Amino acid sequence: MTKLWGGRFTKATNQLVEEYTASIGFDRKLARFDIIGSMAHVDMLASCGIITHQEAAIIMEGLNKVDYKLEAGKVELDIAHEDIHMNVEKLLHNEIGAVAGKLHTGRSRNDQVALDMRLYLREVVVDTVEQLAALQKSLVEQAKVNLDTILPGYTHLQRAQPVLFAHHMMAYVFMFQRDAERLMDSFKRINRLPLGAGALAGTTFPINRQLVAEHLNFDGLCENSLDAVSDRDFVVEYLSNASMLSMHLSRLSEELVQWSSTEFNFIELDDAFCTGSSMMPQKKNPDVAELVRGKTGRVYGNLMGMLTTLKSLPLAYNKDMQEDKEGMFDTAETLKGALALFAPMIASMDVNKEAMYKAVAEDYSNATDLADYLVGKQVPFREAHAVVGQVVLHCINEGRYLLDLSLDEFRSFSPDIEEDIYEALTPEAVVAARDIAGGTAKNRVTDQIEGAERSIKTSEAWVESLQAAVKLDD
Ligand code: ARG
Repeated sequence: MTKLWGGRFTKATNQLVEEYTASIGFDRKLARFDIIGSMAHVDMLASCGIITHQEAAIIMEGLNKVDYKLEAGKVELDIAHEDIHMNVEKLLHNEIGAVAGKLHTGRSRNDQVALDMRLYLREVVVDTVEQLAALQKSLVEQAKVNLDTILPGYTHLQRAQPVLFAHHMMAYVFMFQRDAERLMDSFKRINRLPLGAGALAGTTFPINRQLVAEHLNFDGLCENSLDAVSDRDFVVEYLSNASMLSMHLSRLSEELVQWSSTEFNFIELDDAFCTGSSMMPQKKNPDVAELVRGKTGRVYGNLMGMLTTLKSLPLAYNKDMQEDKEGMFDTAETLKGALALFAPMIASMDVNKEAMYKAVAEDYSNATDLADYLVGKQVPFREAHAVVGQVVLHCINEGRYLLDLSLDEFRSFSPDIEEDIYEALTPEAVVAARDIAGGTAKNRVTDQIEGAERSIKTSEAWVESLQAAVKLDD
C-alpha cells in the first residue's frame, strides 16, 4: 500500500512499525471533527484563490460522502493509512480522484490534529457543564426536601456538630459549581484555532486563518505557529479539571457508600442503581458509587500520563504527542458515564430522616453549644470548653447524654446553667443557632440554595449559548 508520504522511501514499512505507530485504532473518534475541519479549510482555500471554487465544490461533496459512509459504516478505516487524517484523505481520493490531493494544501497533520483535538474537547467541555448542572439540580432537590432533616456533621469521622442534610447536599453543589466554572473558564483557551500553523513555521500560501476561525466558531487564533502545534496545555488543563471533578465525585461516592451501610443506615439507594451478590442473597451493593470512586484512579492516571509525556518535549511536533488522545478520550467517557448515573441516583435516593435524627440525639454533638451557652453567661470560651469536657466525661462514664442530666447535675459543673439549657441543646436549636452566612440554620441554607440556583442557571445559559456553535449544526 503506497503511503501518502511514501515518495522518499525505497522500502515498504516494517509491519510491526506500521502497527506500532498507527493511531487509527483510537483517533477514529476524531473522524467527524477531522472532516468538519477539512471542510472549513477547503472553503478558505477557494476564498483565497489557492484552489478553484469548482475544485472546492468537488472536494466538499467528496468529504460529505466520506462523512456519510463513515457514519453508516460503509467504508473501512485502514491501519496502513496510519491515522484518521490520512484515512480520510485516502477515502476522499477513492471518491473524487486526484483533486483530493489539493485538500492538504497549506496544511500539515500537525496543525490538523491539534485542530481536531480542540474541536473534540470543546464539545466535551460544554456537555460536561450540562451534565454537571443536571447533577447539581438533583442535589438541590434533595436539599429542598431535607431542609428539616438533621444529621450529625463529622470531623475525623467522629460526630462533631449537627447539620441539616440540605446543608450537606449544598456543599457538593458548590464543589460542582467550581468544577463547572473551571471548565467554562478553560473553554477560552481551548477555543483557539491552530490551523494555519502548518508543520511548525506557518505556510507559504496566502491563507486566511481568520476565515477558518469564524467558520468553525473559534474565538481567535493560536498566535504563534510553533506554539500552536506544540501546545497540549488545553488537554492537560481539561484532564486536571476532570481530576478535580472526579475527586469531588469520589468524596460523594464515599459518603453514599458509608451512609447506605447498615451501620449508618442514613440513606437507601434505589434498587435500580445497586447490584447484588452472586453468593450472598441479602446483599445490595452500592456498586455505582464504588466504581465512580474507583475510576478516579484512571482519571488521575490520565493526567499524570499526559504531563509526563509532555515533559521535556522539544518544540514542535513529536510523535510522542500522539499519546495525547487515549487518556483524553478515556477521561471524557469515564466522566460522562459517572455524571449520567449520578444525577438520577441522587434524585432517587431515599433519605432516612429518623435514623439521622436518632444519631444526632444519641451523641454529644451539642457539646459546643453548652460551651457557647456558658460564653453567653460571660464565661471565657477556654474555661467553658474545659467545664463542658468534664460534663461530657461524666455523661460518658454514666452512659447518658447531655440532655439526660438534671438541672442540679448541670449546676454542679457550673452555677451559670439555668432551665433554658434544655431548649438550647436540642438538635433543632443547635442547628438554628448557626444563623450566619454559610451556616447550617435553615434560612441560611435556603439562601445557599437560592444563590446556587442562580449559578446553575448561569451555567445552563452558557451551555445553551454554545451548544450549536460547538456542534457546528447551525
Ligand atoms: N497521528 C498523529 C497524532 O495523533 C497525527 C500527527 C502526525 N504528524 C506527524 N508529523 N507524524 O499525533
